[in-house]
Amino acid sequence: MSSYVTRKTDGNTEWFVKDRFGMFIHWGLYALPARHEWIKNKERISEEKYQKYFEHFNPDLYDAKEWARQAKAAGMKYAVFTTKHHEGFCMFDSKYTDYKCTNTPAGRDLVREYVDAFRAEGIRIGFYYSLIDWHHPDFTIDHLHPRAYDANVDELNEGRDLKKYCQYMRNQVEELLTNYGKIDILWFDFSYVRPENPPRPWMQGKIREDWEATELLALARRLQPEIIIDNRTGYDQDLWTPEQYQPHEWVKHPETGELVTWEACQTFSGSWGYYRDETTWKSPEILINMLIETVSCGGNLLMNVGPTSRGYLDYRAEAALKVYADWMKYNSRSIYDCTMAEPEFEAPQGCMLTQSNDGKRLYVHLTNYPFAYLEIKNLAGKVDYMQFLHDGSELLYDENKFVHMAISNRGDDSGKIFVKLPHVKPNVVVPVIEIFLK
Ligand code: GLC
Repeated sequence: MSSYVTRKTDGNTEWFVKDRFGMFIHWGLYALPARHEWIKNKERISEEKYQKYFEHFNPDLYDAKEWARQAKAAGMKYAVFTTKHHEGFCMFDSKYTDYKCTNTPAGRDLVREYVDAFRAEGIRIGFYYSLIDWHHPDFTIDHLHPRAYDANVDELNEGRDLKKYCQYMRNQVEELLTNYGKIDILWFDFSYVRPENPPRPWMQGKIREDWEATELLALARRLQPEIIIDNRTGYDQDLWTPEQYQPHEWVKHPETGELVTWEACQTFSGSWGYYRDETTWKSPEILINMLIETVSCGGNLLMNVGPTSRGYLDYRAEAALKVYADWMKYNSRSIYDCTMAEPEFEAPQGCMLTQSNDGKRLYVHLTNYPFAYLEIKNLAGKVDYMQFLHDGSELLYDENKFVHMAISNRGDDSGKIFVKLPHVKPNVVVPVIEIFLK
């Protein structure tokens, strides 16, 4: 059994740390400008202009079943869908607002279709819900708000009542956690890091007390006791969520030092929402390595897609998902129900290790394909059988000595094993050695 123990929390993370790989879906009105999901803020777009996207939102090609099929093929076991992003637009039929998809040419509850389709594929359901809301009339203007630099900002802020907005959030979270069956994950986004000395008091930004986060969390726990909740309200919950960077070790609680349940969230190309002109798409090697490295550090990976406004995944997103599908088809055994290898094992140079939670299998991921031999320390006497994972073909190895005619005087090789590898890298982005331990 794995010896790693993580901080105990209220939600049920048992399935989560086995499933390891999920799909993030950022979809909203920002898919129309197709220039980043923060476009309303970045370009300080007025309500009037942004309304154009509302009027023209027509995802006529949205087929949630097709997304679910691709997610499943990629090996993703759960998904997190933006029910409302910072723009405030609701992708579900909320009775507390008119600013929702059912009032656009879309004319239907897009969250409902996502839930039904993904659940039918056996994929667990998560909801992203933005605490920030750049549309709601009671959301006070702060330094991140698109209206922050308007000349009349003080005037615009008059009469706004954040308490009413907090009630609105609770109402909507109640709808989301009541009307769609079992929800596995709730992903709030996000409390601010407050600037030290804001030039104007309203610029300081919002923290957990401003959202009345205690009530919000209590509500979610009451409605869905098993649900996994992230930390972005500003209160420690079940999930730590490093964003757009890869931790190189197991994430620890900043105060107690305990290992925590964590999930890296990553994009294919940089932005979360569909961004037509972005050219920074990640290579197949990076995509696969991100997944491996995450699990090798005891974490989960939530990989994002940003569907187009017409409701499909563009060719680049499909290609990236296919990279995962091709690799996971043969190698998922080193990911599911796996975690960081026990400390007794040391990853050889250019390799990453994972180990099954029951401790019986060790996986060596050859991210930098070694020529002919792979030396692994501290493994002699512990191997029962060894093979390539992708094709189940046996790998031969020597123990405690390096058997090679032309080399002598190597010094002490005890404890080491030397795996003989084919000269040509197998046709897999990252080949994996599967070691059955004694
Ligand atoms: C951020 C961004 C956002 C994205 C999210 C995903 O906080 O504001 O656009 O939804 O992180 O982690």
